[in-house]
Amino acid sequence: MNRIFSGIQPTHAMHLGNYLGAVRNWVDLQGDFDCIYCVVDLHALTSAPDPAALRAQSRELAATLIAAGIDPKRSILFCQSQVAAHAELAWLFSCVTPMGWLKRMTQFKDKAGKKQDQALHGLFAYPVLMAADVLLYHATHVPVGEDQKQHLELMREIGGSFNHRFGTEFFPLPEPQILGSGTRIMSLRDGTKKMSKTDPSDMTRINMVDDADTIANKFRKARTDPEPLPSEPAGLEGRAEAANLVNIYASLNRHTPEEVLQSYGGSPFSVFKQALTDAAVAALAPIADRLNGLMQAPDEIEEVLKDGADRARAIADPILARTKDIMGLLPPKT
Ligand code: AMP
Ligand code: TRP
Repeated sequence: MNRIFSGIQPTHAMHLGNYLGAVRNWVDLQGDFDCIYCVVDLHALTSAPDPAALRAQSRELAATLIAAGIDPKRSILFCQSQVAAHAELAWLFSCVTPMGWLKRMTQFKDKAGKKQDQALHGLFAYPVLMAADVLLYHATHVPVGEDQKQHLELMREIGGSFNHRFGTEFFPLPEPQILGSGTRIMSLRDGTKKMSKTDPSDMTRINMVDDADTIANKFRKARTDPEPLPSEPAGLEGRAEAANLVNIYASLNRHTPEEVLQSYGGSPFSVFKQALTDAAVAALAPIADRLNGLMQAPDEIEEVLKDGADRARAIADPILARTKDIMGLLPPKT
């Protein structure tokens, strides 16, 4: 049986990079797989968010996922902290994960910077919790953006380390699914940095809730270079910002960059940016409308999350119990 698991952090609102790199694929996969999608609020704690903001963003992110097309009846949609087994399995996995593996993680090195001793232990242990998220459901496929590739490789190593240590094949090792041309959307201001929820400048990203004027303005001010667009991808070498805009347009329209350049090669950016704005507005406006409707009824969103957590627990709890048994922990007497 194939089972999908993926997660997204409720740190700031969702942006176009999350959508094209991950969430749109999650929506498409619902037809073919048994899917579990998670608002990973325990992971968000690693960036020390304000409690009230975290609560509001968790609710809003769940609603955004529904508005984007995640169907909570077909898929399981839930909030990580509402299923206690995630934190518990993360501890068990900490005890089969050498520190050296975690020290290699580029995300930790990037986020901790030069002050590694002051970085939170949770940030260091982040990939262990991520491995627990997926292996807790015996998920077979994990659709994520390219930035998560190293974490997925580590996840397979952690599962393999457990299996090896206890002489079992209890945990299947999940396959990463890095899909589509939109898997790495870059900042609108610096084509070498990924579009990120946490960039201090809002002009670097298109948010799912940005209205048509805001989207037009952000693309108008997006950094480019003075040359017109080339007619084939080789002409985008060394032009990171131009390549990013072409990639975004291609991904929005489910075209290849070659196809986009066949149509727009030789065009100035003023023309191309207008087409890009139209494509982004066409994709995002209906999602923003649905989101506004959903946010009128926060209780209903919480009901959906409760139902999702109940269904998630029904899968996770027996797997956690078996894991503890394999490790030699004494089960509570029934
Ligand atoms: P996060 O915002 O870090 O919780 O990421 C949620 C999902 O969006 C993950 O699958 C990421 O790989 C993906 N993602 C985040 N930023 C980008 C980006 N700039 N381009 C493509 N995918 C992204
Ligand atoms: N670390 C992922 C990100 O930042 C989010 C995440 C947490 C995740 N747990 C996961 C993704 C499990 C896939 C599977 O994008």
